[in-house]
Amino acid sequence: MNKEWNLPNLKSAQKRSQDETTIERSLFEIPESYLTIGQDKTYYIRTYGCQANERDSETIRGILEKMSFTQVFEIDKADVIVLNTCAIRENAENKVFGEIGNVKVIKQLNPDVLFMVGGCMTQEEGVVNRILSTYHQVDVLFGTHNIHRIPQLLIQAYFNKERVVEVFSKEGEIYENLPVSRNNKSKAWVNIMYGCDKFCTYCIVPYTRGKERSRLKEDILSEIDDLVQKDFKEITLLGQNVNAYGKDLGVTFDFADLLESVAQKDIPRVRFMTSHPWDFTDKLIKVIAKYKNVMPFIHLPLQSGNNEILKIMGRRYTKEAYMEIYHKLKARIPHIALSTDIIVGFPNETESQFCETLDMIDICQFDNVYSFIYSAREKTPAASMIDNVSKQEKEDRLQRLNKQIGKYALMHNLAMVGQTVLVLVDGPSKKNPLIFSGYTETNKLVNFSPVNECIGKIVSVEITSAKTWTLQGKQV
Ligand code: 5AD
Ligand code: SF4
Repeated sequence: MNKEWNLPNLKSAQKRSQDETTIERSLFEIPESYLTIGQDKTYYIRTYGCQANERDSETIRGILEKMSFTQVFEIDKADVIVLNTCAIRENAENKVFGEIGNVKVIKQLNPDVLFMVGGCMTQEEGVVNRILSTYHQVDVLFGTHNIHRIPQLLIQAYFNKERVVEVFSKEGEIYENLPVSRNNKSKAWVNIMYGCDKFCTYCIVPYTRGKERSRLKEDILSEIDDLVQKDFKEITLLGQNVNAYGKDLGVTFDFADLLESVAQKDIPRVRFMTSHPWDFTDKLIKVIAKYKNVMPFIHLPLQSGNNEILKIMGRRYTKEAYMEIYHKLKARIPHIALSTDIIVGFPNETESQFCETLDMIDICQFDNVYSFIYSAREKTPAASMIDNVSKQEKEDRLQRLNKQIGKYALMHNLAMVGQTVLVLVDGPSKKNPLIFSGYTETNKLVNFSPVNECIGKIVSVEITSAKTWTLQGKQV
């Protein structure tokens, strides 16, 4: 094996120390001679998984565009192909392996194509070993902590015609000077913190993304000032666990304070995700209620409605504690919409424990639920639990859960028929270029016939009909 390679190590990725996070403002550098490397060349990027990955891809795009590469949207037209991968569940990984397989054909036709794979999957030892031994079409493997090194890795693979692997298993640093090429001109993701220290027993994120580390408020607010100046309409503050913001900085300025500072900026819509019920404070609820531009929509993962399962998952709250937050939110912000995540078929989950999750769906009547079958992840504590729930049983539970979820989503959407709501317009809908789509303040997808050029604007739309996952309306 090549000694130059930096391979991942999940055990060392688990390490957490009290060391202060290093904020790097100078580590990212593109040598002068690299800036024109991509002239007359193209890149294709495909992103899997969560918003953290979407935001990372915007940085990767920023780096490649600084090197003069132009983006294309057809994979077989690209000189450089990048997959930014997700490791959260096995089916996410299988999709990526399928795509890696497809690139083999592209490379057979054009061996000069450079194929780079990065993201959470490359932080897993098992995945990296599998790629190294089986998928020879991959030229560069880079980890979530190595994005700033893309120029050097790309050049090394390009000119030396050699495979390059660089995956650090660090606790993590923060790079403040990375370029960004945003996907959307009116909605922006803003990282406020990276990593996760919660170590829920099923979850691989704390291993793939390093320790919880917050950006300095000055850096966040100056990024937001820049977005305000560029006339962005919506900002989503991002973190695996935004409520823990600031804890690692040893300052009293917490997430509620940060949200308030952002809400005081001239930005029409502020959102944040993801919240963990563990750190959801009354102070935060007050800020959400106080500012009209903090959107009345919260994603608050429940995972299970059974206390025993929550305990084995390492979630650190009970369903009663979850309900307390739920009631406070509904009492202080009556029009608030809520979504959640649910995992079914956690090792040894019984039928009656699952029924308690269904009960919570009935009680909370969520506007939206992301539901998943438990997937064992390499080296996580839950992966070594003996599991007596069959695959068929898990699939059956998922179906029953989804039926329940759909019922409440439709109920909420039907209640909106006849109302006039504000919609931030994304542009033509996926199916029909004459129909535009956008999202309400409560994060509901609306399709409508536009009466004027309104992409990127907030317009009033009267809701005329509702389906489970979409609303139809007319612009007023
Ligand atoms: N299996 C199934 N779902 C998972 N999630 C995280 N890890 C797993 C896993 N191993 C879900 C959780 C989390 C969401 C982002 O993905 O519900 O909130
Ligand atoms: Fe994973 Fe739990 Fe961290 Fe969310 S809070 S990223 S589920 S470990």
